[in-house]
Amino acid sequence: MLRIGMLTSGGDCQALNAAMRGVVKCVLNNADEPVEIYGFEDGYKGLIYSRFRMLTGLDFSGILTRGGTILGTSRVPFKTIHDPDENGLDRVAAMKQNYYKLQLDCLVMLGGNGSTKTANLLSQEGLNVITLPKTIDNDLWGTDMTFGFQSAVDIATKAIDQIHTTASSHGRVFIVEIMGHKVGWLPLNAGMAGGADIILLPEIPFDIDKVIDKIEERDRNGSRFTIIVAAEGAISKKDAALSKKEYKEKLANYKYPSVSYEIADKIAKKTGREVRVTVPGHVQRGGEPCPYDRVFASRLGAEAGRLILKKEYGFMVGYKNREMVKVPLDEVAGKLKKLDPNADIIKEARMLGISFGD
Ligand code: F6P
Repeated sequence: MLRIGMLTSGGDCQALNAAMRGVVKCVLNNADEPVEIYGFEDGYKGLIYSRFRMLTGLDFSGILTRGGTILGTSRVPFKTIHDPDENGLDRVAAMKQNYYKLQLDCLVMLGGNGSTKTANLLSQEGLNVITLPKTIDNDLWGTDMTFGFQSAVDIATKAIDQIHTTASSHGRVFIVEIMGHKVGWLPLNAGMAGGADIILLPEIPFDIDKVIDKIEERDRNGSRFTIIVAAEGAISKKDAALSKKEYKEKLANYKYPSVSYEIADKIAKKTGREVRVTVPGHVQRGGEPCPYDRVFASRLGAEAGRLILKKEYGFMVGYKNREMVKVPLDEVAGKLKKLDPNADIIKEARMLGISFGD
C-alpha cells in the first residue's frame, strides 16, 4: 500500500487542482500497489489538526480546469510555526504525529515561499516530502516558472487592456496596481503585454520626478494618456534609502490604501493631471487556469508522481532551462527569486521606450 498525503498551502492560485490531478493520475496509472490518497484540508492546518478526507481518482476527475483548490488553503506563517497554538499544542510535533499515525509514505505540498520553508522543516524532521511550486508571484527560487503565474499574467494584462480604452477616451493618467508581493515578475510581464508606458517594480526603485518626466514627454508627443503599471511592492528611491526602522515608521502613519494611491496623489499635485487608480487585486488569482498552466501544472504533477514512485523525497519539482528538474528543498527554502534589474527583458523594455521611473 502506498499512502500519499496532500495539501495546498498559502494564497491560492490557478492550476492547483490541475497539479494535484497530475500527481494522482501519474501515481494511479503507474503504481504497482494499491494507493490511498489523504487530502488535508486548509493547508498545514489540516495536517496539524488531523482534518483530512480520503480521496479517490474520481475526486480528481473534471478538475483540470477548475480554479481554487478542492482541498482549501490557509496561511500558517513559517515564522510562527514553532509557537504553540492557543491550547498549547506543539504544531510541528502534531504534524509529525499525524503523518506517522496515518502511516503516510509521503506528503505532497503545493505552495509558495513560506510554505516551502515549512515543508523543508518537515523534511529535515524526517518526513518524506515533495513540493510543487505554486504562486502567481513567480518568486520561488530554483524554478524559472511557477504555476499560476501565466494565468495571472493573462488576467492582469486584460485589466490593463480594459483601462487603455477608457484612459485614451478621457486623456487621463491611469495607475494599474498589479500583485506580485515583493517581486516584479507579474507587473513586468503584464505591463509589457498590456503596453504600459511606465512600469514601477520593487527591484528598480523609482523617482517620482522621472515618472512625471515620462508623462510630460508623452504629452509633448501628443499622447492623450499614460498607463502606469505599479507593482504592489513598488518603492521610491527615497523610501528604499530609509532604514528598516524608518520605513516601518512611515508605514505606521501611512494614509494611503496602497503605494499606487501615494504615487497618484504626488502626480496629481505636481502636474495638475487627472489620475485614477485601479487595483484588480485577488481577481488575478481567481478563475480557471490558462492552457499553459494546465499543461505546466499537469507536467509538474506527473514529475512529482514519478519521484514518489521512485521513493525520491526531499525535493521541489521545478522547471529550469526548459527542463523539469528536482531541486533539494533545503536549497529552495528561504530564498526569493527576484528580477535582475539588468536582465535582458528590462533592457529590451527600456529600448521599447518603457520607463521604469529610475
Ligand atoms: O502570494 C500571492 C499573493 O497574491 C501576492 O501577490 C499578494 O501580495 C498576496 O498573495 C495577497 O495575500 P492575501 O491573499 O493573504 O491577501
